[in-house]
Amino acid sequence: MLILVTGGTGYIGSHICVEMLNEGHSVIIVDNLANSDRAVVDRIEQITGKRPLFYEADVTDAKYMDLIFSTHYIDGVIHLAGLKAVGESVEKPLLYYQNNVLGTIVLAEQCLKHGVGKFVFSSSATVYGDNPSPLIETMELRSAANPYGQTKAMSEQILKDAANVNPEFAVALLRYFNPVGAHPSGLIGEAPRGIPNNLMPYITQVARGKLAELKVFGGDYPTPDGTGVRDYLHVVDLAKGHLAALEKLNPGVEVYNLGTGRGTSVLELVHAFAEATGIKIPYSIGPRRPGDLAVVYADPAKAKAELDWEAQYGIVDMCRDAWNFEKNFS
Ligand code: NAD
Ligand code: UD1
Repeated sequence: MLILVTGGTGYIGSHICVEMLNEGHSVIIVDNLANSDRAVVDRIEQITGKRPLFYEADVTDAKYMDLIFSTHYIDGVIHLAGLKAVGESVEKPLLYYQNNVLGTIVLAEQCLKHGVGKFVFSSSATVYGDNPSPLIETMELRSAANPYGQTKAMSEQILKDAANVNPEFAVALLRYFNPVGAHPSGLIGEAPRGIPNNLMPYITQVARGKLAELKVFGGDYPTPDGTGVRDYLHVVDLAKGHLAALEKLNPGVEVYNLGTGRGTSVLELVHAFAEATGIKIPYSIGPRRPGDLAVVYADPAKAKAELDWEAQYGIVDMCRDAWNFEKNFS
C-alpha cells in the first residue's frame, strides 16, 4: 500500500514510517516541521534502507493537499499531524482548533474527493475524561479538560459523521495511552523543544544533567505509593498497532484503545529507569498538576481480539530505549 503519514517526522509518526517501510509499504510524509526536523527523514532511511517521500506542507492547506492527493495514488492516510501541548492549548485555543480540527476536515475531504478509503486517526485517552479505569471503548466520553483534548473528541466526531454518509469510508480511531521510549536503534525518538511537559522526557533530561531534579506532581493520590498511575506503552508497539489497524480496516468506524492495560506509578517509573540504566533520578514530591487524574489505564482487549495486536515491551525496555535515544541525539 501507499500510505500518507501526516506528522510523519514527529515522534510517533517517524516510528510508524519505520514499521510501514519494514513491512514493504510505501510512505509519503506530510509535515510542516512545526515540532520536528527534516533530518528525521534521513534517519528513517538509515534504519529501513528505504527513503519515504517528504513534503514540507501544512495539512490545513487544502490546495496543497489536493495537489498531493492528485499526484499520488494513495491507499490510506494515517493522520498524526497536530499540536499536542496541553498547557499551550489552554493559552492558544484558537490555534489548536484551527490546526487540529481543520487538519482533520481537510484530510477527510481529500480522501472522499480522491476515493481514498482508509483513514487512521491519532486520538488520545484524554477523550475519556474522568471515566474510571480500566477505560473501555464503549464508555460514553466525558468532556476533556482542555482545548487539546476537545480537538481530539471533535475530530473523532467529524470522522464518524463523515463515515456515516460515505459507506465506503473506513476509519479507525486509535486512542493512545502514554507512548514513551524510542526506536532500539537510538536514531529516532522524542525530542521535545524546551522543558518537557511529560514524565519520561523529563526523566531522561534529569538523567542527562540538563534538569536538576524531577518534580513529582502529587504524592497524595489514592494509589499504592500516592503518585499518579498511567499506562505507558513503547512507541514501537504503538506504531505496530497502526499497521494492524490499517490491515484490518473495514468500512465504517472502529475505535481501539492502544495501551498495555497495566498501570505504572511515577515512582515505579523512576525505579524502572534506575534498573534499566543504573541512573538514580533525584526527585522531590510537590503539589498535584491541575487537571491530572489519579489513575488512567486501558482495557486493551478489543485491539487484541480484533487486530491481533498486543504490546510486547515492558517499562524497563521503555526506559532503556528512551535513555539510549537521549544519549545519542540531544
Ligand atoms: P509530534 O509533535 O512529535 O508530532 C506531530 C507532528 O505533526 C510534528 O512533526 C509537527 O511538525 C506536525 N504538525 C503539526 N501540525 C501540523 C500541520 N498543520 N501540518 C503538518 N504537520 C503538522 O507529536 P507526537 O507525540 O508524535 O504525536 C502525534 C499525534 O499523536 C498527535 O496528533 C498527538 O496529538 C497524538 N497523540 C500523542 C500522544 C503522546 O503522548 N505523544 C498521546 C495521544 C495522542
Ligand atoms: C498528558 C496530557 C494528556 C495527554 C497525555 C499523553 C496533561 C495535563 N495531560 O497526560 O492530555 O493525552 O499526556 O501525551 O499534560 N508527572 C510528574 N512530573 C512531571 C511530569 C509528569 O510527576 O514533570 C506525572 C503526572 O502527574 C502523571 C504522570 O507523571 O501522573 C504522567 O504525566 P504525563 O507524561 O504528562 O502524561 P499524562 O498526565 O497522562
